[in-house]
Parts: sequence; C-alpha cells; structure tokens
Amino acid sequence: MKYFTEKDSVETVLARTSVAADERLQEVTAALVRHLHAFAKEVSLTEAEWGAAVSFLTKTGQICSDERQEFILLSDVLGLSMLVDAINHRRPAGATESTVFGPFHVAGAPVRSMGDDICLDGKGESCRFTGRVLNLDGTPIEGACVDVWSDNADGFYDVQQPNVQPKWNNRGRFITGPDGRYEFLGIKPTSYPIPDDGPVGQLLTQLGRHPYRPAHVHFLITASGHERLVTHTFAEEDQYLASDAVFGVKESLVASYERLEAGATQWHCEFDFVLTPSNAVPPLSTSSTHIRG
Ligand code: BEZ
Ligand code: FE
Repeated sequence: MKYFTEKDSVETVLARTSVAADERLQEVTAALVRHLHAFAKEVSLTEAEWGAAVSFLTKTGQICSDERQEFILLSDVLGLSMLVDAINHRRPAGATESTVFGPFHVAGAPVRSMGDDICLDGKGESCRFTGRVLNLDGTPIEGACVDVWSDNADGFYDVQQPNVQPKWNNRGRFITGPDGRYEFLGIKPTSYPIPDDGPVGQLLTQLGRHPYRPAHVHFLITASGHERLVTHTFAEEDQYLASDAVFGVKESLVASYERLEAGATQWHCEFDFVLTPSNAVPPLSTSSTHIRG
C-alpha cells in the first residue's frame, strides 16, 4: 500500500482502479491520469492556475444548454475535435476528407428538388452549387442524400436568429439520381465568428486568437453501403483559410467559385464528393433535433 507522493502520483492513483472495471475505461482513464499529472508537473501548476481552470470549466458548463454546447466549442478551438475526427475517419486516397460537424446542423431539413433555391431570406450573392456523389472508382452513387447547411449573408445560421430568418433558411436535402448529380441554388458563403460571448471566446481573446471561420458550406452525405461523410467546402481566397478558429480547413476541401457574367446567378461552385464503402451506414434521421457528429 502506497500513500500519495509527488514522485509516485500516477501509480498511486491508478492502483485504486478496480481490475474489474471496464477494460477500455481503465485504458482511457489511466492515460488521462498519466498525461494530466505529467502536464501539472511540466508546468509546475500553481494553486491559482488550478483554481482558474476549475472556474473556467465551471463557467463552460454553466453556459451549456440544449442550444449551446460550450464544451464542444472548447474541444473545437483546442483542435481536439479535428484530431478525433482525423483518428476516426482515416480515408483512402481519393475519398473526400471529413471535417468538424459544428453545432448548427438540424436534422430533418426539407427534402428539395434538384435545382431548388435554399436561400429563403433573399440576402447575399447567389451561387449555383453543382457536383456529383461518387464512389471510390468514380461510379455515380444513386440515392445519396446531400444534406447542406450554411450561414446567411450576415454570417448567422437560421437557428441563431429564429425570429429574424425564415426556418430552414440556407438548408436542404437533395437526393441524387442515377447520375449521382446534385444541384441547388444558394449563396456564396461568408466568414463568421464562432459563438464568442462565453468562456471560450474569452480564452481566444486572452490567447490573442480571433474567433473567425473561413466562409464554408456544410455537407452531410449519406448513401447506403457507404460511410457517412461530414464535411465542408471552403471558399477559395477567404482571408481566414489559414487561421480557422476550429482548424477545420483541409486543402482538398477548398472549392473554386467561378464568377458568372450573364444571368441572375452571380457564382458557380462545382464540387464532387467521393464516399468510402462501408457495411454499416446509420439510417437517415427525420427528427428535427440538433445532433452532433
Ligand atoms: C460551424 O462551422 O458551424 C462551427 C464549427 C465549429 C464550431 C462552431 C461553428
Ligand atoms: Fe459553419
């Protein structure tokens, strides 16, 4: 039996875990304790700093609600969400890369017809989005669901402004036909800050970081027999591409926007999505609760 010492802190704590505890829980908590103790020792954590961290985490929890998940936002700005995404979605060459899900997806968006306009507030520069959903060998996927969402021209999602924007503004689902094509009208997206009026925003300020995400359009693509793809396309030349507050940008996801000279639509963005085969694709949800990936 060992009493606690600075030197043997990890071993002393880990020795208390029951051998009957769930194996994976033992593995994960043991690694957490090892890294936490190593961290405190490396920086010689002061009591004031430990207290500040407890207070920060308390405020992070207190601001959480059904509509706001500050802990996930914290994970996002620390790069942890992107790391977990990378570890869990190692895809073969040629497959479209994934990125963070973000807090603004709403399940059950209207299923629209190809070519429909998802911009319901009439704001912004209009853009025609086209492309194909393909499998790894380039064959079009029929029956894929392309679930799309983006902010409006003022940089807000409809759920952030329920009394200002029409419900389902800049959202929709499109089901591909035999050619695997999708097409819809929307707007060229604008960059916007992540919610920065809480503890995470204060942390960013203290670290000298800005809260902006480069302009992007979110896609959740599901198709029978394929892995679910959570991704965005980013607008080329956006000033925040290299400094996304949540580290979501990947080079392969930067899309070109072609300016159209004639007609009412100002931009065209073409992007193909390549899915990875899988044996277990979760069924499409049709409820309208917020979900996190
Ligand atoms: C978003 O792109 O919607 C988002 C992602 C992570 C944190 C906040 C917003
Ligand atoms: Fe977003």
